[in-house]
Amino acid sequence: MKHVDVKELFEKAEYYQSKTVTVCGWVRTWRDSKSIAFIELNDGTSLKNLQLVIEKGSVDDNEVRPAMVVGAALKVDGEFIPSERNGYELSVCKIEILGGCPQDYPLQKKHHTLEFLRSIPHLRPRTKFFEAVFAVRSRLAYAIHTYFQEHGYKYVHTPIITGSDCEGAGEMFRVTTQPWNLAAKSEAEYYGGDFFGAKAGLTVSGQLEGEVAAMGLGKIYTFGPTFRAEHSNTTRHAAEFWQIEPEVCFCDLNDIIEIAEDFIKFIIKDVVENCKEEIDFFDERIEKGLKEKLNNVIQSDFGKVTYTQAVKLLKDSKKDFKFPVEWGSDLQTEHERYLTEEYFKKPVFVTDYPADIKAFYMKQNKDNKTVAATDLLVPGIGEIIGCSEREADLEKLKSAMTKRGMQLDAYTEYLDTRKYGSVPHSGFGLGFERIIMYITGVQNIRDTLLYPRTVGSL
Ligand code: 4AD
Ligand code: MG
Repeated sequence: MKHVDVKELFEKAEYYQSKTVTVCGWVRTWRDSKSIAFIELNDGTSLKNLQLVIEKGSVDDNEVRPAMVVGAALKVDGEFIPSERNGYELSVCKIEILGGCPQDYPLQKKHHTLEFLRSIPHLRPRTKFFEAVFAVRSRLAYAIHTYFQEHGYKYVHTPIITGSDCEGAGEMFRVTTQPWNLAAKSEAEYYGGDFFGAKAGLTVSGQLEGEVAAMGLGKIYTFGPTFRAEHSNTTRHAAEFWQIEPEVCFCDLNDIIEIAEDFIKFIIKDVVENCKEEIDFFDERIEKGLKEKLNNVIQSDFGKVTYTQAVKLLKDSKKDFKFPVEWGSDLQTEHERYLTEEYFKKPVFVTDYPADIKAFYMKQNKDNKTVAATDLLVPGIGEIIGCSEREADLEKLKSAMTKRGMQLDAYTEYLDTRKYGSVPHSGFGLGFERIIMYITGVQNIRDTLLYPRTVGSL
């Protein structure tokens, strides 16, 4: 169907000026008067609507009336002309209805609440808010690939179905073809008869396989969906979310922190420069001062503090936290937010966490208490990156796994990477939806995904 995208029309306005063009799209709003009718048409390529101007008499009335319906899909011919109010508009000479739209179309009003829009995920991409979110999401993915491709990383695709629980937190979704009512006498019998002849699940992280790839390819990154059956019903947790996980050989914790900071600044700068309209929209409608925040992030150094110092800062703050702060317990969101929002007032890396609250694969520090790990915390959200240098010493790694009650024989291949030519290496995982929230100011992770999966909601 030959037509011009609305984005292209506005971008090359001088070229298209006074030409007759065909455009397609959905009716967002319309206004009618005796001699003239206006329709705001949106085709999804641009946040901007194209104003259609219809002089009564110059277009067949039988074409005009069914077009003045919110949600209807149209194909329109007209002359693209300058206008005082809109910059440009389309003076229409022909209208074809591609798809009519009955009165029960739920998006009749100009503004709907995000809660309401969550109840119609299949229609919300037709709103300005979700057009803007998905434009940023798309550009951000492109920027992420650009960063790694330009820095010599190989993009690897790690398995989605896996037998190993990378984070060891027991949050894996099971994958099975066994009948729901199978009465098995033992776990071994149940899984033995399953598709893989073993217990399988959806990956919580591509890291372990990413490490395997890096231990030959040098520098890799993954970018794919990860799954966690976490029961945390918060605005920052989804059961299906996307992670970007670079893994870098010959790299210690300080090196990977530098990479992470450079990477975050690069992708934010790219989106700010290439999604100007969207960022303006979010600045105006969702988070006042967003643009200034992002520009500050690009220009200033991130903070850095050890977990031990952070605990002291939290205690000294004399704040009335809901969860008590004690060395050895994990930082809660309220603690993370105090550090990044009130104390540092910018993104901050918290480093060297107690080993007992972190995953088995992290490099054990000389103090025998902490590990070379860091979380990147940002104002408004808390953790967006989980990062660490990996334990490269085979015996130390095995003892950390044994201590956690892990079955070493399920990780033979992973352990081989430490047995054969082990090297210092580090990596991190960036939550894709979390960085989208940070860049757009969107408050709920459910509004960054096409079909959010959360506990109790498929
Ligand atoms: O901190 P996490 O659990 O780290 C890992 O999975 C490591 N294997 C990463 C690595 O070193 N390669 O998760 C990484 C990030 C978090 O910082 C957070 O941004 C995001 O993934 N994340 C979630 N995002 C949305 N919903 C959830 N349920 C999330 N769980 C983690
Ligand atoms: Mg984490």
